[in-house]
Amino acid sequence: MVDRTQPQDERWTAVDAYIAGKLLGDDPALDAALAANAAGGLPAIDVSAVQGKFLYLLALASGARRILEVGTLGGYSTIWLARALADDGRLVTLELEPRHAAVARGNVDRAGLGDRIDIRVGRAAETLAAMVAAGEGPFDLVFIDADKPSNAVYLDHAIRLSRPGTVIVVDNVIREGQVADPASNDPAVKGTRALFDMLATDDRLTATALQTVGAKKWDGFVMAVVR
Ligand SMILES: C[S@@+](CC[C@H](N)C(=O)[O-])C[C@H]1O[C@@H](n2cnc3c(N)ncnc32)[C@H](O)[C@@H]1O
Repeated sequence: MVDRTQPQDERWTAVDAYIAGKLLGDDPALDAALAANAAGGLPAIDVSAVQGKFLYLLALASGARRILEVGTLGGYSTIWLARALADDGRLVTLELEPRHAAVARGNVDRAGLGDRIDIRVGRAAETLAAMVAAGEGPFDLVFIDADKPSNAVYLDHAIRLSRPGTVIVVDNVIREGQVADPASNDPAVKGTRALFDMLATDDRLTATALQTVGAKKWDGFVMAVVR
């Protein structure tokens, strides 16, 4: 039961646990991934379980066969997304830190998904530019969840790697409401506001954003579809 006298963020976490208990069930592969992340000293900044399942459902609903992720960490969201792929589907995920990528490699292999996941190490802006130059894509779904100051750059590359109908999701765009503060000097907020500026004017796509609360506190995501 959710105790109404508890602080609000504890109630959000309790409701996430309720949803996960009802709709997600036991998941040894994902539990093992989080344990390996902790053992490897990775920060616990992965999406929550219910958010991961939402990404999985988006990929499933859009029939995604090729998925691009920017920001791998230990591969927690990668595993959720890759589970929606058919056997011949592919997921490319980009990560700056070799240490994160090594943990992710172990996690996706243990989850039985290693054959369809390509982890590329380096600065995502450079990797994405190389992918555009090489004519890679189109991807059916793109999930952007790396360094927030680069969000607009990642979005621009993502559109170039898309086709009409590609779904693009960007995480952490509400930032406990700070996104609506034009005076913020936080580079992550400024980067996210630049993302919204681009979304507002770029006629290559149509977009909205949803606020969320839960185990990851008050945040939210952008969802866009390429025209
Ligand atoms: C929020 S975490 C990703 C979480 C992951 N998507 C999940 O939910 O499991 C962000 C990741 O982006 C990586 N990152 C930061 N700057 C980057 C850059 N310039 N290029 C590529 N990856 C970067 C960080 O090292 C970190 O692993």
